[in-house]
Amino acid sequence: MSETFKDQAVDEFDSWSDTYDEEGFFRRHLFIPTEDHIIKELLSLRKPDENFRMLDIGCATGKLLRKTGEKFAAASFEGVDIAPGMIKVASEKTQDDDRYHFQVGNAAEALPFDDDSFDYVSCCHSFHHYPDQESAAKEFLRLLKPDGKLLFVDSYINSVWGFMMHCVIIGTYEKFQVHHFKKNALKEFFENVGLKVERQDVVTGRVPWMMTVCVPSAEGGENAASEPEEKGESR
Ligand SMILES: C[S@@+](CC[C@H](N)C(=O)[O-])C[C@H]1O[C@@H](n2cnc3c(N)ncnc32)[C@H](O)[C@@H]1O
Repeated sequence: MSETFKDQAVDEFDSWSDTYDEEGFFRRHLFIPTEDHIIKELLSLRKPDENFRMLDIGCATGKLLRKTGEKFAAASFEGVDIAPGMIKVASEKTQDDDRYHFQVGNAAEALPFDDDSFDYVSCCHSFHHYPDQESAAKEFLRLLKPDGKLLFVDSYINSVWGFMMHCVIIGTYEKFQVHHFKKNALKEFFENVGLKVERQDVVTGRVPWMMTVCVPSAEGGENAASEPEEKGESR
């Protein structure tokens, strides 16, 4: 990732951090429904007293993990975000709860966790900002335990309204280039890096979005072999 792009992204997202949790159009129609959908998925997979480890990449102020922790008392949570301001808010909001740990990190670089560390990796409404999406997807795979799951949410642009909303209306305000996948293209992309797509849930509404659930594929993928760039190197 070029330093200019990274600085722009950090500045842009840092500027949102103080108000990110406030209720507004996007929290109401996109972020809250996403959090609730992921928690519902987790509740279908785990009992509330089960111990599991979850990483949220592009976690912003940690809202998804904080809400998940209210349902799962024995689980532990890591959050990574490129914007220090977001991580500061997330850390302050969880400072008295040692189940949470938040740190600054770039999803397109090697993240500071061992291979096979997590039962769940989530990434919500963040991936379309990543300039190196293939490296990030390989990190998802590396970090998941062999029986882990990726809970991935991003824009749904197959419908006319989804395209208008994400690529035209929101796109006008985005200060740097983004890349949204169409539904089948995302499936193919994940399968090429070695993630098997179990399901894609499309949620239409004022801001259409889609959850893609993946597991590590036993067969690997066409592009699975190469490593992500080392942390700290610029592209
Ligand atoms: C629209 S917000 C979504 C936040 C949260 N996941 C949610 O659903 O509410 C996008 C987040 O992705 C983060 N982000 C963007 N590029 C990133 C990168 N390369 N690595 C890690 N985080 C990144 C931003 O700082 C921001 O907090």
